[in-house]
Amino acid sequence: LRPNLDFRGFAGTVASGVIRRGDRVMSLPSGRTSEVDRILSPDGDIAEAFPPMAVTVTLKDEIDASRGDMLVHPNNLPHLATEFEAMLVWMHEEPAKIGGTYTVKQTTKVVPAALSELRYTVDVNTMRKSEESGEEPELVLNAIGRVRLTLHRPLAFDAYQRNPQTGSFVLIDRITNATVAAGMIIDRVAARAEGEEPQPVSRHINIESTLVSAADRQKLLRQRGVTLWLTGLSGSGKSTIARALEQRLIANGHACYILDGDNIRHGLNRDLGFSAEDRAENIRRIAEVARLFNEAGIIAITAFISPYRKDRAHAREIIGDSEFKEIYLDTSLEICESRDPKGLYKKARAGEIQHFTGISDPYEAPEQPEIRLSGQENSVERSVEIIEAQLKAEGVLLD
Ligand code: ADX
Repeated sequence: LRPNLDFRGFAGTVASGVIRRGDRVMSLPSGRTSEVDRILSPDGDIAEAFPPMAVTVTLKDEIDASRGDMLVHPNNLPHLATEFEAMLVWMHEEPAKIGGTYTVKQTTKVVPAALSELRYTVDVNTMRKSEESGEEPELVLNAIGRVRLTLHRPLAFDAYQRNPQTGSFVLIDRITNATVAAGMIIDRVAARAEGEEPQPVSRHINIESTLVSAADRQKLLRQRGVTLWLTGLSGSGKSTIARALEQRLIANGHACYILDGDNIRHGLNRDLGFSAEDRAENIRRIAEVARLFNEAGIIAITAFISPYRKDRAHAREIIGDSEFKEIYLDTSLEICESRDPKGLYKKARAGEIQHFTGISDPYEAPEQPEIRLSGQENSVERSVEIIEAQLKAEGVLLD
């Protein structure tokens, strides 16, 4: 609510717990935090609110929150994920289309979602699962089933058992707008076995090969399409070196392209923040894009902190071990912090940015990078020379 320039409040319903003046709150999915300044009810200012009150809250800081977002206590967070399992009661004549896309409406939030899997149905008379009877499950009118839903955007939710308000939803047909099912969220999808890749949500998709081979492209471009994966703290020199390297390679007749926060976090990955989960998804998508560039024969230069070893190992798997060149910008935290080009370390030290790599979030240095560059010892020009020389020696850059 913004009736005039002096007032900015968020109107909503208290779904669970108690919210008090002075409470620290986090807005989801952005992850920004602030403090409750005032709580307004139809009777004026109040000190606290509880379910099912509808109130307007003002915050001490100007943080972004829009329709459907959630305010939560930072020490009692809901799940924020793009996948969950749920029990569905099917309420429509037309049976559920597994693999089809529906709209999930949960609280006041609306998100497109694929009904990725029907695990089993339950016979309401005998309470037997279809798994036990061995029948092929089908979700028809009045049937109950356990399903997996894959959302197009992250959603903040709880298991229904913990919080019926944030744990329940309806499924809506995207074309007719009919409500086709009611659901209760069970919990997040169980963690996958180590190394197991999730399968695509859509079905009947095949990988088609083209009539042009990697060797044909190499001959055309006089290079192998590889990914130069720069990793290091914020301020370690990733973007600077990436730019100088790109300029040098292009000047020498090599096709390359930088992927960095500017062209990725504003577009493809604009739905992602800096939690460990979001960083993992950030890196996964970047790796998939880099791989496409490599398949096209182009050298991809990526400039992301990519702080977790596990995520970089995953990127290596996606891109391929012989195409993935990990380049570690080994610049000490002290130097990065003294450079502080964006003033972010200062803010992180002051507690204004949470989960800041190096300050309140970890950075896991590579153990065996293909190239290690010490920010203390090497100038930008020298770093570029070292990388170029190595690429020539490895036969990535051909004459
Ligand atoms: S990564 O960890 O997921 O690889 P990425 O390289 O895309 O991070 O983004 C890092 C940039 O985002 C930093 O250089 C900084 O400008 C900005 N940033 C904003 N918040 C954070 C944070 N909490 N931690 C690290 N970087 C942040």
